[in-house]
Amino acid sequence: MQKQLITILEETKNQLNEAASPEAVEEIRVRVLGKKGRLTEILRSMGGLEPEERKAVGKKANEVRGEIESLLEKRRTQLNELKKQEQLAAEVIDVTEPGRMRRLGVKHPITQTIDEMTKVFMNMGFEVVEGPEVETVFMNFDALNAGPNHPSRDLTDTFYITDKTLLRTQTSPVQVRTLLSKEPPMRVISPGRVFRCDTPDATHSPVFHQVEGLVVGEGITMADLKGTLSEFARQMFGSETKTKFRPHHFPFTEPSAEVDVSCFKCGGRGCKVCKGSGWIEILGCGMVHPNVLKVGGVDTEKYTGFAFGIGVERIAMLKYEVDDIRLFYENDERFLKQFK
Ligand code: DAH
Repeated sequence: MQKQLITILEETKNQLNEAASPEAVEEIRVRVLGKKGRLTEILRSMGGLEPEERKAVGKKANEVRGEIESLLEKRRTQLNELKKQEQLAAEVIDVTEPGRMRRLGVKHPITQTIDEMTKVFMNMGFEVVEGPEVETVFMNFDALNAGPNHPSRDLTDTFYITDKTLLRTQTSPVQVRTLLSKEPPMRVISPGRVFRCDTPDATHSPVFHQVEGLVVGEGITMADLKGTLSEFARQMFGSETKTKFRPHHFPFTEPSAEVDVSCFKCGGRGCKVCKGSGWIEILGCGMVHPNVLKVGGVDTEKYTGFAFGIGVERIAMLKYEVDDIRLFYENDERFLKQFK
């Protein structure tokens, strides 16, 4: 039996040397010291021995058990330490590695242009109002004095939703909504998205932006229109900018005009931006047609007004010398990041 004890000790020593993990050490402990372990069995079978021998075997067995226990503990600590070292080596953090840069976005050039235009008008006392993108045919055309056969109503130009609703083709219906909801005097602008059935090319996009303007009050004349829009042009394109008002036609204004500004790039001598003419067309405007004021419930004996509509993309293209409108909608970062 004593021999058996020594064999157990030796074998356990060897097994422990080979054990590669704390779990393996635990398995060995169970096999030797567990309820059905080899050493436990020996201790249990000692009952049948002579007292003398039992004493000797008992002593030896206790010695062996003590030794095995301390060996188990030693190996367990060793392996735990090893495991910790391995983990530390695997999870090493390089604190000197440079951080990943977060790139800051910029406001879209169209938004920047709308913001800039809005600021100019707000400084002149205008208030910002909004209207829906899905509009009634009535607001978009009828209320704006566009006769039943007006070419802009054409299916090929307008995205109709039903025969009574459409995607607004202009921001001008906001004029009517404002006339209906406010009492004169009023001074408003309304920036927003508009839609037209156009095939995209360098100067056309089925979605683009306009800023609409409307001023109504007692004694408002064409001189107010010219003064306001000339000042807008100077603030937008520089104090040297000259304006030219050319007669034009819009159903909702009478008289109507288109406004050209002297080329801010060449000062009017002629260049690529102004296509050699020295002038650049930037907006449409006019004195609000009495028919429009009437739909809006305004007393046309007492009040007059002027209105204007500015294409935002056009202004942005001129200002930033962008030669293709599609660049605004592609969201190519290489393009957008230039507008910091
Ligand atoms: N709605 C016109 C367009 O889309 C632009 C315009 C012209 C608006 C003259 C106006 C205006 O308010 O008075 O082409």
